[in-house]
Amino acid sequence: MKMMRPHSLPILLGLLLLAQSWGFPVFNKATNSRWNPSLYVASKEAPETSSETTIQLNPLLSSVKMSKTVEVMALVKQLQADGVEVTSLSVGEPDFLPPPAVLEATHKAVTDGELRYTAVTGTLALRQAIAADLERRKGVSYDPLTEIVVGNGAKQSVYQGVLAVCGLGDQVLIPAPYWPSYPEMVALAGAKAVIVDASVETGFLLTPDQLRTTLEANPKIKLFMLCNPSNPTGGVYSRAELEGLAEVLRDYPHVAILADEIYERLVYPPTDGDIPKEDWCPSFASLPGMFDRTMTINGMSKAYAMTGYRLGYVAAPARLAKAVTTLQSQITSCAGSLSQAAGVAALTQVPDEVLEENVQIMQRKRDYVLDELAKMPYVNLPAPPRGAFYVLPDVSKAPIYNGDDTEFCLDLLKQERLALVPGSSFGAPGCIRISYATSLEELQVAMEKLNRFLTNLG
Ligand SMILES: Cc1ncc(COP(=O)(O)O)c(C=O)c1O
Repeated sequence: MKMMRPHSLPILLGLLLLAQSWGFPVFNKATNSRWNPSLYVASKEAPETSSETTIQLNPLLSSVKMSKTVEVMALVKQLQADGVEVTSLSVGEPDFLPPPAVLEATHKAVTDGELRYTAVTGTLALRQAIAADLERRKGVSYDPLTEIVVGNGAKQSVYQGVLAVCGLGDQVLIPAPYWPSYPEMVALAGAKAVIVDASVETGFLLTPDQLRTTLEANPKIKLFMLCNPSNPTGGVYSRAELEGLAEVLRDYPHVAILADEIYERLVYPPTDGDIPKEDWCPSFASLPGMFDRTMTINGMSKAYAMTGYRLGYVAAPARLAKAVTTLQSQITSCAGSLSQAAGVAALTQVPDEVLEENVQIMQRKRDYVLDELAKMPYVNLPAPPRGAFYVLPDVSKAPIYNGDDTEFCLDLLKQERLALVPGSSFGAPGCIRISYATSLEELQVAMEKLNRFLTNLG
């Protein structure tokens, strides 16, 4: 292990303890033996223990878990900073830079002095740009004055959408595999997640029958969280498939829909039939009768590689948008002014062709990863992902692990220094989630490592 600066020690130890509390074995590169970081915590630097204080934490926290993707990312970054060479396919973050127009707008906003609070819902220029974009590409019309709320990343927008509708004792339908934050946000609202397993045979898409059976059996369901395209499966509901769900929902008018469409610009051409492009992945709100009950979530993180700008939004009918605005006004006031200026440039100055080129690059990476995985032992591949930048292979047949995907990922990290996220954190036990939004070179190294790991198991 490389020498550390003295002040980095407490941070590293904190991280290692966090990693260990999650069950991550922390190891010493030199000896390759499991390493107990608690042995290294100097008492002076240790945080106050709970026995020394009478402060009670919010009981809701006992039902909320730390984001595992964020934890893995933190651990990987720390290991890398410490000189350990780690290959990571754990983060949902494109490896390219935001488009030049976005970078220029960011600089310009600084020199123009756009450095103040904006309206809670965002600058009018950004709301107008969002409304125009949704109208042009998705054929759905929102009033920029009352129906769009810009937040600090889509994650915040999702959470505020959940809070706007759900409270104590309510139920929320979440198809599995799911984005891990959904059930935790529901728990934070005091509500209960009703998880329904979408099957691998349907490409991990919820069927209308499953939706009806679940709504019938759970009359307290107030919200349906639909991720399209999906993180972690890459599954995409076409217009026909969404229409099947909408038809069921028309019989349950008390159920709101949170349509998380943050990956909607990353959709690959369907291989089956001649589906027109506007039907590949339409906005749920554009389906007949669905506008009034849908909160559409979108943002700049994925399509424009603007993850650090923290820019997302909710587009919803005025009553729901107002509820979200009230929450946001007390939680964070508004998104960053510089980010908002950059967001306007993203939506108004970046030609569609640039984003389409990124989709083609991403599709080549997907195809490479799928080809490599198909050659590996013990890997069961689902139908090819049709959107986003994830693949969720099943490795439950791998010997030794008996389907324990967490142990699998821990040993993979320990032996090969390859970081993936265990499927069980996405409600997909026995699977591993691979994010292929990185360079082809990194993917090649990662696939070699995974192949070696699996081959050595046999
Ligand atoms: C399904 C889904 N929704 C929302 C988000 C949040 O995106 P951000 O907060 O970066 O805008 C993510 C990020 O990984 C995601 O995968």
